[in-house]
Amino acid sequence: MSGPLIGMKVVVSAGPTFEDIDPARFLGNRSSGKMGFAIAAVAAQRGAEVVLVAGPVHLPTPEGVRRVDVRSAAQMHRAVMDALPCDLYIGAAAVADFTPRAPLERKLKKQPGQDVLVLELVRTRDILADVAAHPQRPAQVVGFAAETNDVAAYARSKLERKGLDLICANQVGLPGCGFESDDNALLVIDAHGDRPLGPAPKHVLAAQLLDLIGQRIRGGRT
Ligand code: PMT
Repeated sequence: MSGPLIGMKVVVSAGPTFEDIDPARFLGNRSSGKMGFAIAAVAAQRGAEVVLVAGPVHLPTPEGVRRVDVRSAAQMHRAVMDALPCDLYIGAAAVADFTPRAPLERKLKKQPGQDVLVLELVRTRDILADVAAHPQRPAQVVGFAAETNDVAAYARSKLERKGLDLICANQVGLPGCGFESDDNALLVIDAHGDRPLGPAPKHVLAAQLLDLIGQRIRGGRT
């Protein structure tokens, strides 16, 4: 095996999480996993040891990648922590921010005359922030942010609040890009500025993003 990431361990999260309400229903989102799977595939092609923590998606496992399938945000948190230490963590998954306080063992039944249902949700643990604050923090911790508006400002605040090295912002609702699409457009933001990548196929963006991260690692930028 040869390549610019040889000798490095890369952990990537991808896809949605499903938060169970009862045995028949869950809260989910539109992430297909394509962005994270593309990053994992390119990292493996470049010689890295890759662990891909995948939410519930139906994508083939990229060659040379170790895949850990999970369903919920809590399971994804555990799988990512178990995969540490690593040199690079990239959080491309769309992780639920809230989960039902207690999933029901039996199917929730509507009551006669009931017009409203209130679900009690509690915060999930922030995987990305926990990786960035971990005693064995990877040299580079990279997040994603999907936003409908004020994309750069919200992404920059996540970069700072979660203690990241880099964040890739993408706009929700941009035609042909983002959730579910084969293409995407990213604004890659660090402490020094930002750089647009794309629109382009997700595997092309994955290669460009790993080029940028590779430069940061080689340049020793933190
Ligand atoms: O999967 P695809 O269909 O290819 O779509 C790709 C994508 C749009 C899902 C991807 O490019 C993307 O933007 N992923 C992040 C989605 C998002 O909305 O993230 P967020 O703004 O909720 O979270 C910000 C960051 O914190 C993300 O890196 C996320 O993985 C992480 N996070 C969030 C909550 C949580 N509990 N733990 C986390 O680690």
